[in-house]
Amino acid sequence: MEFVLDTADIDEVKELDGLLTIAGVTTNPTIITKSGKQSEEVFAQLADYLKPEQKLFAQTISTDYDGMLAEARHICGLRPKNTYVKIPVTRTGLRVIKAAKAEGLGVLATAIYSADEAFLAALNGADYLAPYVNRMCNYCDGVGQVVGLIRMLAAQGMDTKVMAASFKNVEQVRELIAAGIQAVTVQPPVVHAMIDHPGTEIAVAEFTENWKNAYGRTTLLA
Ligand code: E4P
Repeated sequence: MEFVLDTADIDEVKELDGLLTIAGVTTNPTIITKSGKQSEEVFAQLADYLKPEQKLFAQTISTDYDGMLAEARHICGLRPKNTYVKIPVTRTGLRVIKAAKAEGLGVLATAIYSADEAFLAALNGADYLAPYVNRMCNYCDGVGQVVGLIRMLAAQGMDTKVMAASFKNVEQVRELIAAGIQAVTVQPPVVHAMIDHPGTEIAVAEFTENWKNAYGRTTLLA
């Protein structure tokens, strides 16, 4: 199971990669614009920091076939391997996914709002599918629909990975991990909420206090 960071903030990537087992980083156009940096700088920082086995995912901006395919080639050429182009599942995007896979590019189908869109992108050869869980909740049971997608792919014997995205709380992430999802991409605020349960700090403070009261020190080794 791959736990991926959904951010263009290199400092967050470095901090969380030091704490956790991070399989890679996803960005999208909005995330990059919010970073206040040019995309070239963001990609260079991420490509420079990530280990070869960690994956980088970046999205096309163009909406026409030739432009998307050119950008797909550019993105997949940013690093020697483990770099994937994110292609939105518009009608043009579905055509570009087929063409990109025919060239052997790594593809993540993105901006997915239904299991139906996702399944069709999988048939076109996408390596990953990124359903937007929280945004889907505006239309349906987002988590339930993604659980259904996982079952659809398994029932059809397809090895396309689902990388759920657009999480707004830890419960959405937890439910999909429990359902057997292959990957999640999670934005730093939700990752920090997964890490920092207040009960843990309270428990550690209590242990330290009891130890200090009994032995007069706050270390195991005297
Ligand atoms: C994945 O990379 C998606 O683009 C991202 O998770 C979307 O998140 P949002 O719904 O918060 O914009």
